[in-house]
Amino acid sequence: MENESAKLNGRQILITGGMGFIGSNLAHRLVREGARVTIYDACLDPYGWNWANLDGIRDDVQVVIGDVRDEEKLEHHARGKDIIFHLAAQVGREISMASPELDADINCIGTLNLCKVLARGERRAKVVYAGSRGQIGEPVYLPVDEAHPTEPTDVYGINKLAAEKYLLLYGHIFNFPVVSLRLNNVYGPRCQMEHGFYGILNWFIQNAMTGRDITVYGDGMQTRDYIYIDDVVDAFVRAGLSSTANDEIFFIGSGVESHFIDMVRQVIDAVGRGNYVHIPFPPQRECIDIRRFVATFAKFKGATGWQPKIDLAAGVRYTVDYYRDKLDRYLKKS
Ligand SMILES: NC(=O)c1ccc[n+]([C@@H]2O[C@H](COP(=O)([O-])OP(=O)(O)OC[C@H]3O[C@@H](n4cnc5c(N)ncnc54)[C@H](O)[C@@H]3O)[C@@H](O)[C@H]2O)c1
Repeated sequence: MENESAKLNGRQILITGGMGFIGSNLAHRLVREGARVTIYDACLDPYGWNWANLDGIRDDVQVVIGDVRDEEKLEHHARGKDIIFHLAAQVGREISMASPELDADINCIGTLNLCKVLARGERRAKVVYAGSRGQIGEPVYLPVDEAHPTEPTDVYGINKLAAEKYLLLYGHIFNFPVVSLRLNNVYGPRCQMEHGFYGILNWFIQNAMTGRDITVYGDGMQTRDYIYIDDVVDAFVRAGLSSTANDEIFFIGSGVESHFIDMVRQVIDAVGRGNYVHIPFPPQRECIDIRRFVATFAKFKGATGWQPKIDLAAGVRYTVDYYRDKLDRYLKKS
């Protein structure tokens, strides 16, 4: 991958949602590799934008406060780019049920704007899209792979799926390459810690660090596939550079099925204190919850050689270490 990364030097890159968790970590990596990065982010709450996420690269990136629903502004900043990492999204599953129009507006209309902009453009940028495991719904077999049926259990999953399809369709018709990375549960440094609507592992780290009880819905035996941010960033970089991944969908995860309750114990262990309590599922959560999830990353490994390097125990420790002296900046945005 070292030689591959040299290909980023001087490349013009746009990251929508680049002030958030995944986008800002990606920006740090791209700046290190010599890319010329523009971040396009609307700084909407309750999402994960945070100036603290850009500490260390603030002078090396162009930051545009812009909304993907603003087609004209998006067009202006998408022009001339080599790679566009499209991460801006309404990311809360419960929020999508409470405000389905907002979810459709940002996740569908925002993505359609990007499609239209690229269709009109003279230069064909490559798009790497942050898809979601939520596009699958309750799995009918495990591990989930790219052929698995898609029956989302919430509006977020439906709109993330629609956005993926818009991009692939426009890319096919208007001749620009698209890669969709369907991400499992991502955790790590620079994830928001203000609330538990999403990014639950980070939220639990905050709970343990601040002495608040961690609440586990039900018996905690539901399973998830947790993937550390550096591995995800590496997947985005490989997807952006690889010509063998074009016009394809891939699952990005650890390939390890972890019980929710075991994740909670690892968090408490890494923080060195903390307590959890079991409570019944709130009805608005229970109706969209998925009992088990794990995906195989074999297809992406075959296309790019990628595989995860950081296991859950190490990743949780790195995450806790990151927040030890920065917690204040993530409890309240600065
Ligand atoms: N974190 C995960 O576990 C996970 C899992 C699956 C998929 N994803 C996808 O990855 C992407 C990034 O998620 P994240 O975890 O970094 O979330 P995040 O909340 O940290 O970042 C999202 C960013 O998008 C910005 N944004 C929201 N609406 C916008 C709009 N209309 N225009 C411009 N910017 C806007 C927010 O201000 C925020 O900075 C999203 O597309 C999400 O659906 C994340």
